[in-house]
Amino acid sequence: MTTRSVIRSVGSYLPSNIVTNEELSKTVDTTDEWIQERTGIKQRHVAADGETTSDLAIAAGRQALERAGIKGEDIDLFVVATATPDHTFPATAAKVQAAFGRRGVPSFDVQAVCSGFVYGLSVVDNFIRCGQVKSALFIGAETFSRILDWEDRSTCVLFGDGAGAVTLTAEEGEGTIADRGVLSTHLHSDGSQHDLLYVDGGASSTQTTGHVRMEGREVFRHAVVNLADTVKEALAANDITIDDVDWLVPHQANKRILDSTAKKLRIPNDKVIVTVDRHANTSAASIPLALAAGVDDGRIKPGHMVLMEAMGGGFTWGSALARM
Ligand code: ACO
Repeated sequence: MTTRSVIRSVGSYLPSNIVTNEELSKTVDTTDEWIQERTGIKQRHVAADGETTSDLAIAAGRQALERAGIKGEDIDLFVVATATPDHTFPATAAKVQAAFGRRGVPSFDVQAVCSGFVYGLSVVDNFIRCGQVKSALFIGAETFSRILDWEDRSTCVLFGDGAGAVTLTAEEGEGTIADRGVLSTHLHSDGSQHDLLYVDGGASSTQTTGHVRMEGREVFRHAVVNLADTVKEALAANDITIDDVDWLVPHQANKRILDSTAKKLRIPNDKVIVTVDRHANTSAASIPLALAAGVDDGRIKPGHMVLMEAMGGGFTWGSALARM
């Protein structure tokens, strides 16, 4: 027998304010055609003034808890993956925990930028498999609009705001890939590449929040290689082929990255969940938002095998295989 972390439910929240490429092109030197051709993005959601990452996280978390039929006061662990916390400290997860009326159990944030969901899922899975907790609310939530330089057309067109949540509970499995739950996670990082994608501010360096800076072409090149490698590593570790995977749920950075990775892996496009056209890149929120989209529209069903992969600033990258 093996303890597994089973995803009980998913939840999502997107701010109501939608900004289309057309609207962006009125304030930034860009066009709908350029953005769609290079990225596949048509629109993004942008948080309202005063709407914070914790507001988004709480809304997504509430939906996930309701769908699982679990009360916030019964959750043993609260984790938020975010690179855009409400405050430098305390953790956004602490605010989420308070909103659900729970005291005493651990709450903390995980920061791995766009890989945050895969990193956080690995952490939560380890807490559950070690027996330290029996249930967790894990949320990827971002307000990237707050750290964009809205005059830099090479970055501001790429990102959006949102939150996606999962509830996880411990369940005994057989220790085979037929088990429900997280089957494996693989994490990587190469800090020598930190200046290819970063924020040019921070508490201890500039005492400002800063803005996203990126060498787009270099990031693209590394992303396709690293993402395909980490997917192959997940397949090998579980002794399966890509044909055994029902759904690839990638981090939604750019449609061209999704297509190139899918081609490299020889997975048909209709087995890849795509939301980047509607959400843009929501960093740590993008995988759970895509997962929720697939579950909500009935494509991802209980028992399906889902492979998640992400890459982000650091560089960080990784994959997670789970049976729903
Ligand atoms: N509108 C119009 N023109 C633009 C825009 C814009 N929004 N942005 C850049 N351009 C121009 C550039 O100025 C350049 O003009 P020039 O040829 O006159 O100098 C031209 O378009 C080409 O610029 P490139 O940066 O070379 O364009 P590229 O084809 O590489 O596409 C992009 C840029 C979309 C950023 C691409 O490199 C990319 O997707 N990289 C991956 C980055 C990414 O997704 N990062 C997200 C975070 S990391 C992650 O999640 C994996």
